[in-house]
Amino acid sequence: MRMYDIIEKKRDGKSLNEDEIDFFIDGYTNGTIPDYQASALLMAIYFQDMTAAERANLTMAMVKSGDEIDLSAIEGIKVDKHSTGGVGDTTTLILGPLVASVGVPVAKMSGRGLGHTGGTIDKLESIPGFHVEITNNEFVKLVNHNKLAVIGQTGNLTPADKKIYSLRDVTATVNSIPLIASSIMSKKIASGADAIVLDVKTGTGAFMKNLDDARALAKAMVSIGNHVGRKTAAVISDMNQPLGFAIGNALEVKEAIDTLKGHGPEDLTELCLALGSQMVVLSNHAQTLEEAREKLQESIASGKAFEQFKLFLSSQGGDAKVADEPKLLPQAKNMIALPAKESGIVSEMVANDIGTAAAMLGAGRTTKESEIDLAVGIVLHKKIGDRVEKGEPLLTIHANQEDVETVKEKLYESITISDGHIEKPPLIYDLIM
Ligand code: URA
Ligand code: CA
Repeated sequence: MRMYDIIEKKRDGKSLNEDEIDFFIDGYTNGTIPDYQASALLMAIYFQDMTAAERANLTMAMVKSGDEIDLSAIEGIKVDKHSTGGVGDTTTLILGPLVASVGVPVAKMSGRGLGHTGGTIDKLESIPGFHVEITNNEFVKLVNHNKLAVIGQTGNLTPADKKIYSLRDVTATVNSIPLIASSIMSKKIASGADAIVLDVKTGTGAFMKNLDDARALAKAMVSIGNHVGRKTAAVISDMNQPLGFAIGNALEVKEAIDTLKGHGPEDLTELCLALGSQMVVLSNHAQTLEEAREKLQESIASGKAFEQFKLFLSSQGGDAKVADEPKLLPQAKNMIALPAKESGIVSEMVANDIGTAAAMLGAGRTTKESEIDLAVGIVLHKKIGDRVEKGEPLLTIHANQEDVETVKEKLYESITISDGHIEKPPLIYDLIM
C-alpha cells in the first residue's frame, strides 16, 4: 500500500476502506508517514468528507493507536458524558452524583486541561482533602460500591489523535465534521465507556457557532457510536451566554451543591435533567426519557442525589462537611460588584469574553504548568432577557488581586444592555438519540 494512492483516492472523492485507513493511522502514529502526506490527506478529507463507515473506521483506528481502558470489572452499563466545551459548565459535577443516585455506574476519567476555569478535577480539588490519585483497583471497587468515582487520566490514550490534532491545528483542517467527530469519539471510546451522552454546544461561546453545524456534528458522533456498538445520544444546547451563574472553580462547586439540593440555576438544572435522562435511558435504568427524568427529579427532591455527592466526596478523601457548609470552600479576598451603566434589558453576554475575564482573575490555566486560583471567578446576577436598573449589579467579581480595572473593562465590553423586549435564548435546541 502507498500513502500516495490513498491521498489520490480521497482527493478524487472515493471512499477509503478499513485497511487504507488503518495504514494511514498506523503509519502516521509510528512516523513512517510524513507530515506533508498526512496534511494532504486531511485536506482531501476536509473537502471530500467521509462516509459513515469511513468515519467509524477512522475512529476505531485512532482508538487502537494507544491504550484502551478496560472497565469490564465494573458491573452494569457505564455511560460517559462529554461536552464540546462551554463557559461555566458545571454539569459534570452535578451529573455524576445525580445519575449514580438512581443506579447508573459512573466511572469518570478526567483531566485538568487548559481553559477559562480548571477542569472537573481542579474544581473537585477545591474540596479539602479530595484526591483523584487512586489505583485502578480502588477506582473499580469504588464504582462497584458507590456507583461513582473520579480518577485522573492515566495511560497513553489515542496518540494518533494527539498527533493529528496538532497537525490539523497548523493546516487549517480543524473545522471538519468527520475529523472532529472521530477525534472526540475516539477519546471517549478509548476511555472505556459502553455508552456515551454528548452535550454539543452552539453559540458565540461554543466551538460550533451555528446550529446547523452543531446538529451535523452531533449526528456524526451519534452515528459513529452506533456504528461501533456504543449506544450514543446527544443534546444540542445553547452557549450564547455562560451556563448557570458561576464561572470559577470553587464557585462552580458551590453552584453544583445548590443544584443537587434542588435550588440551582434554572438553566443548569434543566440541562442536567436533559443529559441525565439520556444517561439513565442508555444505561437501561429507565425505558423512556420521561421516566428517567422523574427518577432524577425524585432523587433531587428526596435528598438522595445530595447524599450521593457527600458519599462520593468522603470516599475519595474529601471533607463532606463542605457540602453542608460551602463557606468552607476557598474564598476570594475581594468581592467587587459590577454596576450596570444604564437601565434596560440584557441583550448580550458574550460567553467567551466573560470566560476570559474569569481567566484574567486566575481561574484558569494558560500553560500546563501554571497554577490555578480555585477561589476566584465571577457570579452573574443577570442573564440575557433580564431587566436591570442603572447602578444595579450585573455580576460580582471574586478576586484575590486588588486591581480589577482591566477585568471590569473586559466584562463591560462583553455585556450589552438594550431597550425593548429581548427573548431569552432557548436552552435546548434538539435531542438526538
Ligand atoms: N475537540 C476535540 O477533541 N477534537 C476536535 O477535533 C475538535 C474539538
Ligand atoms: Ca456555572
